[in-house]
Amino acid sequence: MKHLLKLLDLSGEEIEEILNLGDQLKYEHRHGIAHPILAGKTLGMIFQKSSTRTRVSFEVGMYQLGGQALFLSSRDLQIGRGEPVQDTARVLSRYLDGIMIRTFEQAEVESLAEYGSIPIINGLTDFCHPCQVLADLMTVREKKGSLSGLTLTFIGDGNNMANSLIVGGLKTGMNVRVACPEGYDPDPRVLEFAKEYAGHFWLLRDVEKAAAGADVLYTDVWASMGQEGEAEKRKAAFAGWQIGDRALAAAKSDAMVLHCLPAHRGEEITEAVFEAHADEIFEEAENRLHAQKAVMVKLMK
Ligand code: CP
Ligand code: NVA
Repeated sequence: MKHLLKLLDLSGEEIEEILNLGDQLKYEHRHGIAHPILAGKTLGMIFQKSSTRTRVSFEVGMYQLGGQALFLSSRDLQIGRGEPVQDTARVLSRYLDGIMIRTFEQAEVESLAEYGSIPIINGLTDFCHPCQVLADLMTVREKKGSLSGLTLTFIGDGNNMANSLIVGGLKTGMNVRVACPEGYDPDPRVLEFAKEYAGHFWLLRDVEKAAAGADVLYTDVWASMGQEGEAEKRKAAFAGWQIGDRALAAAKSDAMVLHCLPAHRGEEITEAVFEAHADEIFEEAENRLHAQKAVMVKLMK
């Protein structure tokens, strides 16, 4: 594993290895055991979109691993004025030991990896959010003991989160169901991948059918970053496609509820369900730190 560009590139075993290391680093951190594995190394973090969790967890994670992180807003970089990503990749490869990038186009992340000579980590694109799903799988495994055979149901927009959850869930042996309105399906490349998992993947048009007997319910915002102009149209299209009492009643009685955050209460999740499952949701947010430290160790050590 040279980069983390998308979960489609990883095997189920590689995903499990990251989760195992994430668990170990979490244990060590909780017990005050220092692990300066990346001492002297520097991670550059390029952001073309806003972030709370990704920015802070990568920066703190790098610090805990003995290295340092540089926050590079695309507004300040020459990339924001049109310097080609191919040149940026070759320049930054001479200063840094790794790059985490959050941007719009998946192709930009793939280009950085192609032209640069250091590990590239995808911190969210319009296509996928692999770091988030590693933390999500870690959270489910912590609570449920294992992933294989569990049913994860995603309700809402077939966006970057849905794409990564389908791939990560299926590769680790989960059954994955997606409930979304027509016109908002997951990416065709992901649906093509899911065809290999007949009997383990379902795309449904009914929230309750999708949630029936689920072990994990997951949702995300109806309008992602970059889609702010469509927010009103999307509110109408997604009305009812939420995790609320109906979805929860259909799921297993001990079902977990996860959300990558930020959450819009009253839209994709009700206030009551969010607060009832807040412990799980914020554990999930914490696990971004541990899972990403594992990714950085795997790629940058
Ligand atoms: N879930 C997530 O990636 O959060 P941020 O947008 O705050 O980084
Ligand atoms: N789908 C959301 C996820 C944010 C972490 C977005 O892309 O804005």
